[in-house]
Formats: sequence, structure tokens, C-alpha cells
Amino acid sequence: MIFAGIVAGGCGSRVKSAVIPKQFIEIGGVPVIVITVRAFLAVEEIDMAYVGIKPDWHEYTNELFERFGIDKERVRVIDGGADRNGTVMNIAEAIVAEHGKNEGDIILTHDAVRPFVTEKIIKDNISAMAKHSACGTYMPAADTIIRSDGEKVRETLNRSELYQAQTPQTFRLGDLRRNYYSLSEEQNKKLTDTCSVFTACYEDIYLVLGDALNFKITTDSDLRMANALAELSEK
Ligand code: CTP
Repeated sequence: MIFAGIVAGGCGSRVKSAVIPKQFIEIGGVPVIVITVRAFLAVEEIDMAYVGIKPDWHEYTNELFERFGIDKERVRVIDGGADRNGTVMNIAEAIVAEHGKNEGDIILTHDAVRPFVTEKIIKDNISAMAKHSACGTYMPAADTIIRSDGEKVRETLNRSELYQAQTPQTFRLGDLRRNYYSLSEEQNKKLTDTCSVFTACYEDIYLVLGDALNFKITTDSDLRMANALAELSEK
């Protein structure tokens, strides 16, 4: 089976203007989390979407999904973890609990706050898994990137070798669980995305090309950009 694992267990502290976690803010009248879940459920290869959320927001999320007509049969809302990968692993365990340990099942892990993920990116992740054991979505760096101590430029990096990581990041369920549990708590704490779990285990990650529109709503200016995009698409 093929699952979407939507991580939505954060509190969105960098969006200063918001009084609710950014995944629940409405863009063009639709909550970000609903837009994201819809994008995955619109792809017929995706059997089900699991959404990891802070326990306090569980009931609210179920109500939202009902209000916006999300197919109940194809979505599960579960408790998120203490950090992003904790939420990914709670989703992995919820899938195993419901469907059994099918090592070859595929999970597309995705940030709930990247609502403009395209059908092409989702399908490219799925088709890459026919040939590769893991893949992630990346954008070639557009800006020159430097290394700094925060005061001075220490090094200008070779841009042709630099990419920005987006999501989805896609794995076989068996590999994800094996790799994650092989690392120590200390190692896992340092990882900010799930592909890093695989690189820490010296596993290859195939590159799927991302899209500038698949940006993560992180700050207030990202939120303004998301609203502007929604307005444009209404015109
Ligand atoms: N996330 C999660 N579980 C956590 C922390 C983060 O599922 N314990 C999710 C967020 O909900 C988001 C994604 O991981 O969809 C990317 O993280 P980020 O942008 O850092 O979200 P927040 O942690 O919510 O933001 P902030 O760091 O500004 O508080």
C-alpha cells in the first residue's frame, strides 16, 4: 500500500501573527492542513493519509475534515511526537498497528505546511520508488550560499553542489523503522528531516525535483505569500 504521512504536530512559533498553529490558518477560506491532505488524496495511488497532530487539536482536526468533506475512510488523525521525526515515527507505528508490518509499504512523509505541493511532485516520488529504495524532493540552490559564524563570511560554497530539501520524502516502511531505531536518541535529536535518518545510516536517497511553489510556511512573510498565491488562483 502507499500512504501519505502528513506531519502537523508543530506549534508554528515563527509565525508571530498567528493565534493558532499555522497548519490550521485559512488560506483562501480553506485551512492549510485541509489543502495539503486534499492534494494527497487527489492522487489515486495514495491509499490513505495519516495526519500527526498535537493531542489537543485532535478533535478540532476531525471536525475540520468533516466540515471540508475529507473522505473519512481514507484519513486517520493520530497523536504527533515531541519533534518532527517523532511525529513521522508515530505515523509509521499507527500504520503498522492498522495494516500490519508490510516492509514494502511506501510512506510519503510531508510537511502539512507545504500546501502547494504539486501532483507531479507526489507522482514523481511514487514512481521513483519503483527503482530506488528512498527518495526526497529537492530544489537546486538559487542563491549563493555561504558558511558563517553569524558575524563574518567564512566560506562561499559551490552552488552547483547545493540543494534545498523540500518534502515529500519517501521510504519503505520497513527501512524507515529499521534505520530510525538503529540510531541513538542523541543522533535522532540532531536530525531535522527524515532523509537525514537514511544518510546517517549511509543509505542512498534519490533526488526528485521540487518546485519553488512547494515552499514551507515558516514565517509571517511565507504566510503573506501563500495568501497572495491563493488570491491569484481565485482570479
Ligand atoms: N512537526 C510535527 N511534530 C513536531 C514538530 C513539527 O509534526 N513535534 C511538523 C510541523 O507541524 C510542520 C513540519 O513538522 O508541518 C515542519 O516543521 P516547522 O516548520 O519547524 O513547524 P513548527 O515546528 O510548527 O514551527 P516552529 O519551529 O516555527 O514552531
